[in-house]
Amino acid sequence: RGHEGVGGGASVRGRGSGLPRAESQAEGKSSGLEGGKPGADDPINLERRVGLLSGVALIVGTMIGSGIFVSPKGLLERTGSVGLSLVVWAACGGLSLLGALSYAELGTLVDASGGEYAYFLQGFAPGEKRRLWWGPIPSFLFAWVSLFLLKPSSLAIICLTCSEYFVRIFNAGSSINCLPPDLAIKLFAAFVIILITFINSYSVNLATRVQNVFTAAKLVAILIIVVGGMVKLGQGNTQYLATGFQGSTKSFGDIATAFYSGLWAYDGWNNLNYVTEELKKPYTNLPRAIIIGLPLVTICYLLVNISYLAVMSQDELLASETVAVFFGGQLFGRAGEIIMIFAVVMSTFGAANGSSFTSGRLCFVAAREGHMVDVLSYVHAKKLTPSPALLFNAAIALIMVIPSDIGSLIDFFSFTAWIFYGGAMAALIIMRFTMKDAPRPYKVPIAIPVLVLIISVYLVVGPIIDSPKIEYLYASLFIIAGLFFYFPFVYMKKSIPGMGHMTTILQLLLQVVPTDVMPD
Ligand code: ARG
Repeated sequence: RGHEGVGGGASVRGRGSGLPRAESQAEGKSSGLEGGKPGADDPINLERRVGLLSGVALIVGTMIGSGIFVSPKGLLERTGSVGLSLVVWAACGGLSLLGALSYAELGTLVDASGGEYAYFLQGFAPGEKRRLWWGPIPSFLFAWVSLFLLKPSSLAIICLTCSEYFVRIFNAGSSINCLPPDLAIKLFAAFVIILITFINSYSVNLATRVQNVFTAAKLVAILIIVVGGMVKLGQGNTQYLATGFQGSTKSFGDIATAFYSGLWAYDGWNNLNYVTEELKKPYTNLPRAIIIGLPLVTICYLLVNISYLAVMSQDELLASETVAVFFGGQLFGRAGEIIMIFAVVMSTFGAANGSSFTSGRLCFVAAREGHMVDVLSYVHAKKLTPSPALLFNAAIALIMVIPSDIGSLIDFFSFTAWIFYGGAMAALIIMRFTMKDAPRPYKVPIAIPVLVLIISVYLVVGPIIDSPKIEYLYASLFIIAGLFFYFPFVYMKKSIPGMGHMTTILQLLLQVVPTDVMPD
């Protein structure tokens, strides 16, 4: 013992916790990653160093990743027309903006760490109700699904995208656009997952630096695409865009799944919530950063899509596995292809790094409530990185890489994620009644969470009714399966047979130690 707290995103022990001071301030906290925020009476006061501009950069940097390079195809396929696909891209941005504004209220109202996990506890099980059998169930299921599905699947998707692009460099033959062997893509994706896990387990500082460099790279990539596209448009290449709404789908389910592709690209809009404690003047800057950042990303995404369609037809876009490479090739030939490959690889590598960074944090809060096996919340004795959580995340991501393709993983992700985003809206609305008089430095107009809730119900239910896919069944069954663990191991507090030994073995093997757990 004696090593308390962790580095990186997982640095929060909530009430009365001890953080490794120098570590937590110097490293993850100010990282521009999805860093931690201390509990209400945490002894440490973080410096409020993140101004409006950095807040905006943080939103933009964590949202832009793989989606803008993989989703245009899925979106176009599902909407059927250039016009409708652009409308859905814009609508996804609008929905994310409304969701983020609602999260701004949640983040400033519920002063506990763990994001949705904490909001569900407060909203669905306030006070004494937490001890009733049903009270903590939404929170538990959230932790269960996030740790086993959402986090690993996002890591898998981003690494697969990185690999899809990278492997093409070595593709024999003349065209970068011909398909490399599936096995090569999966192997390289696995390599990226392992590399990123290593970086994050090795040092929080290194992970932070990787993040900063790669964020810059992705902005450059976006800029190249937009400038290139605008020049082409200026030269009068508007014929592909002029097809407008021809061929638009009329199916509601198709539109909902088109949203799945688009919303993946915007996912991460709730990330600023994790650093409210570091924002200067959080109550004005949090909503402001959201109001600037989200439209900015939306505009970038729209411009990138318009640029793609300035150099390739709808059919070409649908036929290309790697739109950005095709785009680069059309503009600058072979050199353009290589530049775009590197830009996308850097963008996705940075996003994967950021995604991995946060996984420890949730394990932590959940383990504190007794919702996860303790060892997942341990940290490396010297490096103070949450290596068990990172390894766990990587192991599941590796399993997901084997059978899946990116498109169905994205559907799987969005379907599941929006169940919980909807849940957070419900919690917000409930807290308007149960915590009527609590101070709300930022209060979102109630119509906004109500609207987002309605849309999220549509997004989840629409595709199930309209075009049921086996993935949705798996995801739903998985969520329900959590209950089989909840009752014996969480509610009745039975211990998992052999877990004691297992924990000892893992502790020795990974050199990890428990963090100091204070009673709540
Ligand atoms: N929007 C990102 C992308 O396009 C994915 C974000 C994954 N979610 C997260 N919270 N890190 O790749």
